[in-house]
Amino acid sequence: MRGRFITFEGGEGAGKSTQISFLAAALERLGISVVQTREPGGSPGAEEVRALLVKGEAGRWDGISETLLLFAARRNHLQTVIRPALERGAWVLCDRFNDSTLAYQGYGRGLDPDWLAGLYQAVSEGLEPDLTLYLDVPVEVGLARAGRRGDDENRFEGLADAFHLKIRSGFQAIVRANPQRCATIDGMGSVDEIRRVILETVTSRLMGPGR
Ligand SMILES: Nc1ncnc2c1ncn2[C@@H]1O[C@H](COP(=O)(O)OP(=O)(O)O)[C@@H](O)[C@H]1O
Ligand SMILES: [Mg+2]
Repeated sequence: MRGRFITFEGGEGAGKSTQISFLAAALERLGISVVQTREPGGSPGAEEVRALLVKGEAGRWDGISETLLLFAARRNHLQTVIRPALERGAWVLCDRFNDSTLAYQGYGRGLDPDWLAGLYQAVSEGLEPDLTLYLDVPVEVGLARAGRRGDDENRFEGLADAFHLKIRSGFQAIVRANPQRCATIDGMGSVDEIRRVILETVTSRLMGPGR
């Protein structure tokens, strides 16, 4: 049986990377084979592209170049990691995926959503996540948390607060438009509370009767 594909979405510092590891461990305890991955990146080729995207000056790529790099990386990731894992029955948990492209490059940078949707269709050949967990936190909380993380992958964190506000309302609009696939998780609780809400959401959406 094909595995399930779960994506984690949200702004910087929302708690995605923290929570994805908890969910991976919880699913493994249930005997599920899990592949934990991330975008941009997730495969050797796509990780090389990631370095071009997340490091350096905010203005080093314009929106279209940035988007084409993201989709080149996504296609490689889908071909070499995500699809093979799903086909062998593993569950794939991905830290950021296509909704981040819609939020950052579409809502944030103002690129045409129809152009982005067409690129996604071409690159994914119709594969969609079974569930998207959107972690929602106010912009200032997320940026303060991400700043404390202290790594050098800060190209997007450096963009103006107004940009991050557009990203947040973009994610919220994506969730409203895709209620079957997406669930909003309040990212303001404790790490442990959020861990429990995510496990309940995964259980009810993907493991309920008739699934
Ligand atoms: N619910 C939470 N409450 C307080 N701090 C948190 C919470 N979740 C994560 N953090 C901390 O915030 C920082 C950013 O979290 P992280 O999971 O890396 O976010 P993201 O991957 O969404 O950017 C980390 O230092 C993490 O330990
Ligand atoms: Mg992260």
